Amino acid sequence: MEEKRTSGRLNVLLLGSGGRESAMAWKVACSPHLEHLFIAPGNGGTEEYGTNVPDLNIKDFDAVAHFIAQNGIDLLLVGPEDPLVEGIADYFEERKELFPFLLVVGPNAAGARLEGSKDFSKAFMTRYKIPTARYQSFGADQKREALAFLETLQPPYVLKADGLAAGKGVLIVPSLEEAAKAFSDLAEGTWGSKGQRIVIEEFLQGIECSVFVATDGKDYKILPVAKDYKRVGDGDTGPNTGGMGSVSPVPFANEEFMQKVAQRIIEPTLKGLQKEGIFYKGFIFLGLMNVEGNPYVIEYNCRMGDPETEVVMLRIVSDFLLLLKAIAEGSLGNYVLEEDPRAAASIMLVSRGYPGSYIKGYEMTLPEPTFNTQLFHAGTAFMDGKLVTSGGRVLAVSSYGEHLEEALNRSYTVAQQVLFEGKNYRHDIGKDLLNDN
Ligand code: AMP
Ligand code: GLY
Repeated sequence: MEEKRTSGRLNVLLLGSGGRESAMAWKVACSPHLEHLFIAPGNGGTEEYGTNVPDLNIKDFDAVAHFIAQNGIDLLLVGPEDPLVEGIADYFEERKELFPFLLVVGPNAAGARLEGSKDFSKAFMTRYKIPTARYQSFGADQKREALAFLETLQPPYVLKADGLAAGKGVLIVPSLEEAAKAFSDLAEGTWGSKGQRIVIEEFLQGIECSVFVATDGKDYKILPVAKDYKRVGDGDTGPNTGGMGSVSPVPFANEEFMQKVAQRIIEPTLKGLQKEGIFYKGFIFLGLMNVEGNPYVIEYNCRMGDPETEVVMLRIVSDFLLLLKAIAEGSLGNYVLEEDPRAAASIMLVSRGYPGSYIKGYEMTLPEPTFNTQLFHAGTAFMDGKLVTSGGRVLAVSSYGEHLEEALNRSYTVAQQVLFEGKNYRHDIGKDLLNDN
């Protein structure tokens, strides 16, 4: 059994390897309450903030538990959704006698269903009258019923596979004919969705933003609001990606809008979770559509967003490690969240070809660090002592500015100075918001 240490400083294990985890690692490492940070598996940049654990398989919970016991870990922060949906928080809850002092940030599998099952999350929103697109869900063999429902909707048509599909399970098509084909593709598993239920919903017209809610199951804090840019090409063209850039704050997410978000979405969500006996300790990511000043939930995620975290972390002044501790301990009501009034903008540098196939292993050259810009590594690694590209999304360049334009200019200047073969990025991140600023 683990022993409680007395220094008061925390040993932290952060699971994940993307830009999101780099940004969280940076912010955790700023805390005077940190003893040591481990990042598993980590990437080519995270060793700046702690120790990488490249060989730890984060989906092997026995291996994670062994590492926690061996290294006196006090707090486990889970970056990506997969271990949460697969029950990593439940695993440690069930072994409370072995890890009585371990703090876990991330919901249990029941809570993670908000992301893991669209059928569950849509039904949940209906039960608690949370604004979302009108929908129905169908089994793969209910094509006839699905077509009848599609006929009651206006184009374009939105069809989603029920489970996790790494962003590929959503099809938006312009005609009924294509909707019928999309249904068959989802039903037959073209998108890794074989056998899953299929959600069909009304298309919502508006602008999206991402709201991150930290909760200990009772109280909540809203982190700085961000917007991400999902399509690979300028002007929102080309295929969807994990995210090509992000900005914060979002001008339209003003006080009036956020009050609606709190009253109509966050509070009923937390009440609903409590009512269903789900003890949610972690982050709830609300993907929102602003439809004429009214927020609608497009999706819930059970974790922070990537690349939104790469701007959100810049805009938190207060101690992020103490926020994590308060989430896990259930003392969030006493935590004071302080936001940085400055703007932040992040440009994602990607490998040519992403989100399709691309070549890895190109050597990288980084500029000297500057005061207003952080380089958050994502798909990078060290090979033979050299920093090389190792993924589609390679590096997020995140900067502060007195206003959004300054933050964007700084990030774009540094984006040009980062060198690697095949570097690609969007040139219009945040442009749609500049006029409202
Ligand atoms: P999701 O995986 O549910 O977030 O969907 C991926 C993206 O598809 C979202 O970020 C939206 O841009 C778009 N989308 C999903 N559902 C809708 C909807 N009902 N209306 C309009 N756009 C949608
Ligand atoms: N940026 C969207 C996501 O993390 O899912």
